[in-house]
Amino acid sequence: MDLPPFLHPFARPNAERFIEIVRGEGALVWDDEGHEYVDALASLWYCVAGHGRSEIADAVGEQLRTLDAFHTFELFTNPAAERLTSELADLAPMDDARVFLTNSGSEAVDTAMKLTRLFWAWQGLPERSVIVSRDRAYHGVTYGGTSAQGLAPNKEHWGELLGGVVQVHADSLEEVERQLAEHGDRIAAVITEPVQGAGGVFPPVDGYLQGLRELCDRTGALLVFDEVITGFGRLGTWWGAQRYGVTPDLVTFAKGVTSGYQPLGGVLVGPRVREVLEADDQRWFRHGFTYSGHPAACAAASANLAVLRGDGLLERAPEVGARLGPGLQAIVDDGLAAGVRGTDGIWALALHPEDSALVVRDEMLALGVIPRPIATHSLAFCPPLVITDEQLDRTVDATRNALASVRDRAGA
Ligand SMILES: Cc1ncc(COP(=O)(O)O)c(C=O)c1O
Repeated sequence: MDLPPFLHPFARPNAERFIEIVRGEGALVWDDEGHEYVDALASLWYCVAGHGRSEIADAVGEQLRTLDAFHTFELFTNPAAERLTSELADLAPMDDARVFLTNSGSEAVDTAMKLTRLFWAWQGLPERSVIVSRDRAYHGVTYGGTSAQGLAPNKEHWGELLGGVVQVHADSLEEVERQLAEHGDRIAAVITEPVQGAGGVFPPVDGYLQGLRELCDRTGALLVFDEVITGFGRLGTWWGAQRYGVTPDLVTFAKGVTSGYQPLGGVLVGPRVREVLEADDQRWFRHGFTYSGHPAACAAASANLAVLRGDGLLERAPEVGARLGPGLQAIVDDGLAAGVRGTDGIWALALHPEDSALVVRDEMLALGVIPRPIATHSLAFCPPLVITDEQLDRTVDATRNALASVRDRAGA
């Protein structure tokens, strides 16, 4: 078999057919054969600012021409990293945050998990190391994130995962309460996405995040929000924490921080964790990535933040939801799909059990729209927030027409 050298992520190793995306503009992308698509998932949930933003590309080019890169371990820093971390600290949903930088969401999650354990170890309580996470959670693919995520197929065949990670039913506060009551003196932290994303797009049930905060306050456990998808405007606010009025102790981010123009992630470190980190002048924080604080990535992020502000994209998220949500709901009302979940700029359409999300997706590609088939037998929609109303309508129409023809063909 003649397979290409590129071994693709989250793909069948034997797959032979790929769509080569060669250009993008706003919420549209084009393949090498000239087909136009609406990018209905902002690539992989990240392209908030839309494609083809020359101001971000220019900021990266200018940075690379001035200083390509220089590491930030121990003694060194650079103006782009200083500027970005100060901007992010100002935007953070907690007071007096500091910012640790990574290259990806998975690394951000691993960093946050390590920080929660360090927080207790440096207070003389290393046994307080258990991390509670939820079913349906997606926290990335490193061993930490694989252990903390709640999607079974992603956790299989990798050997022994990280010990001391306990998974609870996704919507049950009672189960978290029980864990904390029985093992509270061993629980370091609870980690959750404010809106579960890749696991199916599940907004929190009423009071869930507030309840987690109260339970953590009562027992001392840290609360970690994984905002890799929900940060940077997706929910109409800078952070899901603000959207739901809950202040976490740590926040992980990636994706929308640069809209994907460069790989970048990180962790916002709130005052409670800071106090422990900074308590002893002799201690070293022995963690970091070669490219933590890479100036080109930081320059992309600062330019991207300026675009999000300048274009009023946070305000656009609820408008996107007000058009996309009812559009998808009408498809359900007509019997073509089973249900809709979502809020603001992030949605999922649950299909009927007899319809394949992959087949419907392929049909939609032929109609010029790229959604993403995800867990729970659904199609996800999370477009660039620069998407136009016409492009949103095109997305909904393609979804409806694809479902109708797939169901027609199957004689449903
Ligand atoms: C909530 C959440 N956490 C972590 C990750 C992992 O991020 P990355 O793929 O950049 O490692 C993702 C990716 O989709 C995510 O949605």
